Amino acid sequence: MVKTHNLTVNKDHGYHSNKYSFSEIKNALSNSQPNAYNKRFIEQSLGKKYDDYWILNWDEGIVAADAHSPFIHEKIFNLMLEVAHRYKIKNFLHAGDFWNQDQFSSFWISKEDLISFSDEVSHSKKVVKSLTDNFNDVRFFLGSHDTRFWKLLYSIGKADEYNTVWDLLENKKIKTSNYRYCELNETWRINHPKNTVKVGGLPAIRMNAKFGKSIIFGHGHWQGFVFAPDGKHVLMAPGCLVDPERISYRSLWDTSHDQWVPGFVMIVEKSKFIIFNENSPYGIYLKK
Ligand SMILES: [Fe+2]
Ligand SMILES: [Fe+2]
Repeated sequence: MVKTHNLTVNKDHGYHSNKYSFSEIKNALSNSQPNAYNKRFIEQSLGKKYDDYWILNWDEGIVAADAHSPFIHEKIFNLMLEVAHRYKIKNFLHAGDFWNQDQFSSFWISKEDLISFSDEVSHSKKVVKSLTDNFNDVRFFLGSHDTRFWKLLYSIGKADEYNTVWDLLENKKIKTSNYRYCELNETWRINHPKNTVKVGGLPAIRMNAKFGKSIIFGHGHWQGFVFAPDGKHVLMAPGCLVDPERISYRSLWDTSHDQWVPGFVMIVEKSKFIIFNENSPYGIYLKK
């Protein structure tokens, strides 16, 4: 019947059969002259797109945070170097608050508690030199204290780059990031969050839900880990490199917050880890 009456349906819909990908359409729009149709769309927006945070392709590394130089806990810092040496770890990441910069604090600091900024810089130079002498890849991203100098400049109308303060260290081997987080291989999101996140609290669980990764969070100076509700991801506070007893506001005033714990974490085989503090069995860990 179809043949007899020549009822074959022509399946080629001509123009309407052509399928264009979104990028082809976008390209055509951006290259074409404005017309009644495409003039309704906007050009590319202004401003930097913040998508160039570090994704470190390390299998292993030491992750530490909150050194608050010059108030470093020298014992835990040196133990960290020994652990790195013993396990041939060549990557080091500091997750915010390397500097203390109380000189530019918006909180009240009494005169006897202040170290001059030039002393902070010269002590920090030695600390960073020690790091670059011991590790091949030494990286710092920003925390809450690292931008205090920058904030001061900004407040007097001299907006500067975040990098200025790192340049004072005169160490070309370090790498710094203006982000307050990075990712470490496909397992970890490491950050210095705006809010203080306690071990086991809901904010840590929310960060895991948000980023879909195990989280190592600085800023709180606490230490410990719990598994996320999925029993696979880990939510971890790595401890701090600062000596709690050298920080006046913590030492002069009681708080209900957990005590700060000097320590650090060693990542191995991408997703495995050991958390270290002063009570770790170094006799076992450092045994050859
Ligand atoms: Fe801190
Ligand atoms: Fe902080």
